[in-house]
Amino acid sequence: MKLTIVGTGYVGLVTGACFAEMGNDVLCVDLDPGKIERLRQGELPIFEPGLKEIVLRNAAEGRLHFTTDIQEGVRFGTMQFIAVGTPPGEDGSADMQHVLTAARAIGRHMSDYKLVIDKSTVPVGTADAVQAEIAKALAERGMSKVPFSVVSNPEFLKEGAAVEDFMRPDRIIVGVDDDRAALLMRALYAPFQRQRDKLVLMDVRSAELTKYAANAMLATRISFMNEMALLAEKLGADIEQVRRGIGSDARIGPQFLYPGCGYGGSCFPKDVKALLSSAAGVGEPLHVLQAVERANDRQKHVLVDRVVNRFGADLSGMRFAVWGLAFKPETDDVREAPSLVVVRELAARGARIVAHDPEAMDRAREALGELPGLEYAPSPMAALEGSDALIVVTEWKVYRVPDFTRMATVLRQPVVIDGRNLYEPAMMRECGLEYHPLGRPAVAGAPAPLALAA
Ligand code: UDX
Repeated sequence: MKLTIVGTGYVGLVTGACFAEMGNDVLCVDLDPGKIERLRQGELPIFEPGLKEIVLRNAAEGRLHFTTDIQEGVRFGTMQFIAVGTPPGEDGSADMQHVLTAARAIGRHMSDYKLVIDKSTVPVGTADAVQAEIAKALAERGMSKVPFSVVSNPEFLKEGAAVEDFMRPDRIIVGVDDDRAALLMRALYAPFQRQRDKLVLMDVRSAELTKYAANAMLATRISFMNEMALLAEKLGADIEQVRRGIGSDARIGPQFLYPGCGYGGSCFPKDVKALLSSAAGVGEPLHVLQAVERANDRQKHVLVDRVVNRFGADLSGMRFAVWGLAFKPETDDVREAPSLVVVRELAARGARIVAHDPEAMDRAREALGELPGLEYAPSPMAALEGSDALIVVTEWKVYRVPDFTRMATVLRQPVVIDGRNLYEPAMMRECGLEYHPLGRPAVAGAPAPLALAA
């Protein structure tokens, strides 16, 4: 099939590359000439495991093309994916101008049937707005009879596993209100569901809401666990044991129950805000979700609160190693990352910070700008040298089994404040480290530490 993808951001590029991999003929359109030129040269604007290989292969084999020409894009595909950004506006509602601009362009340039597919995460009612925009543009050209359908097909890609999620989805949500569009969507997704029917067809508005409801539910789970962790600490319980205990109830399930220093990324914070804004707009306050957002804002400060409890409010003259800047492992994305709050607050209290991240240091530099006292370390251990304590913010694999004995000697004070519960407290104690996990009792280093490396 011939597909056009409007927007080569994260979602658009993954969608285009993966559909090309399935044998479709795909044209990706973006307004940014620099981005399109780099993509044509095989340079990717984002880091995502497996993506570069499939972009290069499909481009080389002639199934994946890039252009800045929207007219060429509209003429090309029978299926027109809208995968442009929907950034939060000032009031938290999703800003729809790029989606509507894409819709207008489709209406201005189409001359035969088009299936228009909303891939961006968009508020309920957007498909109707897209429909109206296209109809208006067609009417202006006196071409109101040209048929088209608008469907909603939200993405559920996790950063760091986007290609895998696309190729092996749990479910494919398609909101569609007419038979022709349903038939085409079934054909398009047939290769992805050979083992079982993963297509969940529903009406358009329900599909639009499904995307927000899924992310809001996941954000709720995380905020709930984060509060349970804080409570467990106060009550002398261990959240890791509680997590295993509740996760073994089939109704709850074990995934997405990990307490941490707050959720970040480009989706949860934005989608929670947008859903709250939509709900407020129709006079239906979402009390649970309001609390989720408040709890998450608070959670991002938990690590610095611990630093202050341990070292005092004035941190001038002190130096802290920060492991992990990306909002989660396997990505270079720092949007809404808890690390940004941690680094800014430490700097505001006069501390020096030596940060390390396997992928996200460039993005962090852009996001944080020139902060006094902030430097970046070439390796995790280098960050520890001369630092008073270590703060673990992101659970990258390379941080999971460090040389604890060396850690205890290299740090000026052997203190580890862990926002991801990576380490076994008993092990930390044995290695002479003072360890502050989340939702579990802290431990002081043993007086005669084990020399594990010996
Ligand atoms: C999310 C959704 O999972 C995906 O379906 C949707 O399409 C986009 O938003 P993503 O933002 O890539 O994907 O990240 P995800 O892996 O879901 O993690 C989101 C945040 O939750 C991260 O900050 C992560 O650290 C945090 N998290 C996740 C926890 O704190 N605890 C958990 O148990 C799981």
